[in-house]
Amino acid sequence: MDSAPKDMCGIVGYIGSKEATDVVVEGLRALEYRGYDSTGIACIEDSGNAKLLKQSGRVDNLISLIKESAPRSHVAIGHTRWATHGLPNSVNAHPHANNNQDIFVVHNGIIENYQELKEQLIKNGYIFKSQTDSEIIPNLIDYYVRQIGSFEKGLSAALNDLKGAFAIAVIAKNKPKTIYAAKVSSPLVIGVGKNKEYILASDPNAILEHTKEVVFLEDGDLAVIGPDKLKIYNFKKSNKKKPKLELLDYDQEKASLGQFPNFMLKEIFEAPKTIQSAILGRVRPDEKIIKLGGLEGVSTQLNYIDRIVIVACGTSYYAGLVGEYIIEDIAGIPVEVQLASEFKYRNEPFSRSTMLLAISQSGETADTIAALEKVKDFGCLRLGIINTTGSTIARLTDAGVYCHAGPERAVASTKAFIAQVTVLTLIALYLSKGNNKNYTKLLEELISLPQKAQDVIDLAPEIKKIALKYKNYRSFLFIGRGYGYPSALEGALKLKEISYIHAEGYAAGEMKHGPLALIDKDFPTFAIATNTNDLDKIMSNIEEIRARGGPVVAVATKGNKAIKRLVQDVIYIPKTLSHTQPLLLATIMQLFSYYIAEAKKVDIDHPRNLAKSVTVE
Ligand code: M6R
Repeated sequence: MDSAPKDMCGIVGYIGSKEATDVVVEGLRALEYRGYDSTGIACIEDSGNAKLLKQSGRVDNLISLIKESAPRSHVAIGHTRWATHGLPNSVNAHPHANNNQDIFVVHNGIIENYQELKEQLIKNGYIFKSQTDSEIIPNLIDYYVRQIGSFEKGLSAALNDLKGAFAIAVIAKNKPKTIYAAKVSSPLVIGVGKNKEYILASDPNAILEHTKEVVFLEDGDLAVIGPDKLKIYNFKKSNKKKPKLELLDYDQEKASLGQFPNFMLKEIFEAPKTIQSAILGRVRPDEKIIKLGGLEGVSTQLNYIDRIVIVACGTSYYAGLVGEYIIEDIAGIPVEVQLASEFKYRNEPFSRSTMLLAISQSGETADTIAALEKVKDFGCLRLGIINTTGSTIARLTDAGVYCHAGPERAVASTKAFIAQVTVLTLIALYLSKGNNKNYTKLLEELISLPQKAQDVIDLAPEIKKIALKYKNYRSFLFIGRGYGYPSALEGALKLKEISYIHAEGYAAGEMKHGPLALIDKDFPTFAIATNTNDLDKIMSNIEEIRARGGPVVAVATKGNKAIKRLVQDVIYIPKTLSHTQPLLLATIMQLFSYYIAEAKKVDIDHPRNLAKSVTVE
């Protein structure tokens, strides 16, 4: 089986008065940020002919193919595929067709019982060309349509045979004015445009340019999308549903590159604005209150919470670790942060007074969704800190606080971390109900933070100079204590993911328990040595590293002159509370990694082997 996690792929479909292949290709472009290795498109031409074009490589290559074949069509579906196993070649690329080449399918997800279905189809004379599980879908539809004699019923029967997670779009030569779409545990949304046009996509980013009016498909939905009508059935129960129209809360302007060479740099530079948007209307310094509209509906339930379990993955997990320190410190509620991929398989006691808090930029991360689903029947409160409005996690949770960071396009998460930590700080203050000696100080500090974040951004040229000195090292250690510790973990993740340099984050207090053995002149350390109660301890850690010849880059708070004598390079951040230091540290480490990656000429927005949204296990 092609075990590519195809759910990280992209689906786009269009039916309407415009040239369908143009709209689909533009939609695929909008999904490029997710990462992919092959693309394809199928359309039913106005003449009635079907065209299937697919290849390995970028959307630009697909555009050349389309230009050569100059289709005229008002119905088309397209796909970007992201493979881990199975070659990213034109045979494995989507759309896939039935043997008769008149039914075309694009598919995100994994068909778990594909082997079994394939064997049955082979017995019935079907032939397979690709290594994918997806190729069984058009053939299974073909099989049932022939048996039953109706396209919609045949498609429904095929969908009922599929086990696993999937989102699919289907077009057929005999149904030249319709796109069919269905989903189970994989997102699919239909944009309802002007002049009776519909744009189908697995990610709203492909729809934004056309319309903000959308219908999110739910599990078990089969949508029949015609040029001037939209019908939705539940293919398991065969009952009709009324499409529920919603408004996308996205700002298209924010999703464009502007003067920046790539999205990562643009998004790093948005740090001040990100903090500002996250606190806007929520921090009321005059009244000394935090107003979180998203939590109002559950405020009574929140009074009974005695433990919080945070679940998340990657950068969102590290934001959760910062949140653990802040919530415990400010609100005095015990917090445990778990990797969602571990949480879902653990068998731990979970009481109703424990709250599950899911953090996710995309709102589509499979492991985080699974964690929420695991506790569905436990009777506990499920909150979300999500950036993408209308996403699966946003819809699954009882309540939550949106990040309002705007679309994040680069695979490496930057501004989302800043927004998540800001929101976690707001939640800590909110839960504390003002009963903490640092409440007012922290609340006021948040107001001054966008300017401090700007001061850090202004250090970019200096950070670049320092980063370039370290670009040829093969390994890096990131260390910190207290709030500096989760910051160090996130710093290491950023460096490894975009510059491909091995990096490890460590609690500085652990150095003598193992990592010190690694230190020599070829193993540099990035030390977080900002002003906190632990500063003298981290200074001792740095001394120990220097004594063993290890080069050190340190981040310190303005005014710390002593550190200059100890380390090769220092980057100074403005004075801030220890709770808010991670918000400034993150930008420094993001820029440090960014400039190394830039010097190494890697594809910064699309690091190899990674996708923006990890929507399968
Ligand atoms: O969309 P999410 O926040 O749920 O994504 C979680 C991780 O996949 C994500 O943070 C990933 O680690 C990033 N590539 C980190 O930069």
